[in-house]
Amino acid sequence: MKPIENCIVNKDTSKNPIWLMRQAGRYLPEFREIRANNQDFIKLCLNESLSSEITLQPIRRFGFDAAIIFSDILMVPFAINQEVKFEKGFGPKLGNLNLDKIKATTNEEFTNRLKPVYNAITRTSQSNLLNDKDLIGFVGAPWTILVYMINKMSPKNGLPSIFFDDPNLINDLLNTIEKFVKLHIKNQINAGANVIQIFDSWAGLLEDRISEYIYRPTFNIVEYVKKLGVPIICFPRGIKNYKEFCEIVKPDMISIDYAVDPHEIVKNIKIPVQGGLDPKFLLSDKDNLKKEVEKYLTIFKDHPYTFNLGHGILPEAKIDLVTTLINTVRKFK
Ligand code: CP3
Repeated sequence: MKPIENCIVNKDTSKNPIWLMRQAGRYLPEFREIRANNQDFIKLCLNESLSSEITLQPIRRFGFDAAIIFSDILMVPFAINQEVKFEKGFGPKLGNLNLDKIKATTNEEFTNRLKPVYNAITRTSQSNLLNDKDLIGFVGAPWTILVYMINKMSPKNGLPSIFFDDPNLINDLLNTIEKFVKLHIKNQINAGANVIQIFDSWAGLLEDRISEYIYRPTFNIVEYVKKLGVPIICFPRGIKNYKEFCEIVKPDMISIDYAVDPHEIVKNIKIPVQGGLDPKFLLSDKDNLKKEVEKYLTIFKDHPYTFNLGHGILPEAKIDLVTTLINTVRKFK
């Protein structure tokens, strides 16, 4: 494994490593080709040779500084016995929540169900393409996983107020998810992941109870990962106060979304930063993109900064603009 000080989470201000959230995915023709022959998304995530191949596709094409294992945050609900399906044009669809069944899941059962993910990590970590690069393992934050488990689909139009009626259920479920998320992280590290990222894609849906539902469980996971000796990146998309998040949760690196002002971040946040660029710029044109990329690089010139997007790359992203993006970052002085 690479020494920690050489990975994408580092304190070096002289270089800007680059990778993109959701880089292994639908904007790539080579991914779409595999996907067309593999209609069942969960099965694809559990196909260790194909998921390893998909993980490496963006590295082969663009030479990013890190690979992120091809899997999904919803593999955790799947492994604790809630049904998860992905429907074309709709997104994830989950089955009914059965807390007793979930709590009855043993660690062994969980690990066995996700064995192919761990095997894919080991296989990928041995690829020559990753010689000097990181392999990122990831999880959803307990809050975001819980949102899917209770809402049973993406909360595109927000959450109904009845969602918040039963804090006991929420706390109980958060604790259970936290336990399995930790196990999933440990298994990914044992398999060969050398950086972990926590995706809290729906953090922005909460206004009250942020301490209880986001800070507390995420802090517990961050502490746990630090003890395992692996750097941890948090992506609390849409939260209003990144400074407070960093002070309380204490990740090694913070990944910012595209709605926050990077000037405020560089002024208020001392830890290494990642991300920010609105993924829509990869649908625009070269000049527009270059200008915006250089804006971020200039703002974070004297700050440890890993280039990334402010949310996942869109399926409509233009491949040649991804090349422009990398070249702009690599050439920037
Ligand atoms: O980053 C990578 O390239 C690695 C793989 C990865 C996927 N999902 C593969 C995927 C990662 C890191 C994720 C994380 C994920 N999954 C998040 C957090 C990041 C974010 O975007 O907010 C969330 C919320 C999910 C849940 C999920 N999975 C949704 C809502 C969907 C459907 C719509 C969408 O955004 O794509 C998925 C399916 C999914 N996960 C696809 C891929 C490549 C698309 C599958 C397809 O239709 O071909």
